[in-house]
Amino acid sequence: MATKLRQLYEGKAKKVFECEDPTMCIVSYKDDATAFNGLKKGTIRGKGVINNRLTNYLMQKLEKEAGIPTHFVQELSDTDTLVRKVDIVPLEVIVRNVVAGSLSKRVGKEEGTSLLCPVLEFSYKDDELGDPMVNDYHIRAMGWCSDETLEKIKEYALRINDYLVSYFKTLGIDLIDFKLEFGITADGTLVLADEISPDTCRFWDSTTHEKLDKDRFRRDLGDAEGAYREVLRRVFGDNN
Ligand code: TMP
Repeated sequence: MATKLRQLYEGKAKKVFECEDPTMCIVSYKDDATAFNGLKKGTIRGKGVINNRLTNYLMQKLEKEAGIPTHFVQELSDTDTLVRKVDIVPLEVIVRNVVAGSLSKRVGKEEGTSLLCPVLEFSYKDDELGDPMVNDYHIRAMGWCSDETLEKIKEYALRINDYLVSYFKTLGIDLIDFKLEFGITADGTLVLADEISPDTCRFWDSTTHEKLDKDRFRRDLGDAEGAYREVLRRVFGDNN
């Protein structure tokens, strides 16, 4: 069994540890929640356990059922997971199916407005700059990843979207939008990394349109814990 040897990095929602195998890392999910680039801080009780379980379950499904390579290796505990060590491509890859959040402000359309097709956006991952939105030309000109990698990221992101929209529909959840991160392993394979959870997705109940995600924390809507538990319950059943 892998053990945490030394902390490599602490992010806003996760810590990353070195383990015995130099090609692997251990990710440890926290209950800490932040918004607005860390300006708002709080705790969502139970979030670490929920996000760990949901991410691992969804990544395994994406591997098996959609042919998406991921960094997932093995769930070690309620909060900890063994993953392949990667160099993170410094992009936040956002896929949108319905107008919400920053897109709503940018285009002046009400949240919930439908889109004619999915929208793919990229942000440059840099907290000090506030993760500014960039396009293919910036990515190519800055050398943040190769053209080949960028094309594969786009293909994977849209395939992940198709798969997850259909899957969540069966649970009575509309997948409004979400953020992905990708990494490159030592052997040069592009893999899905980071997490897929109510921290990084907008989930709306298909019938009531109730928000079941981190917007409850970002916007002080109350009972973020309950919303995260509800997503877990829909995925894993009533005993959760
Ligand atoms: P946005 O509408 O605020 O741009 O967010 C789009 C999606 O990306 C939404 O599902 C939340 C997710 N997201 C993150 O995972 N991390 C972030 O730092 C931000 C700003 C958004």
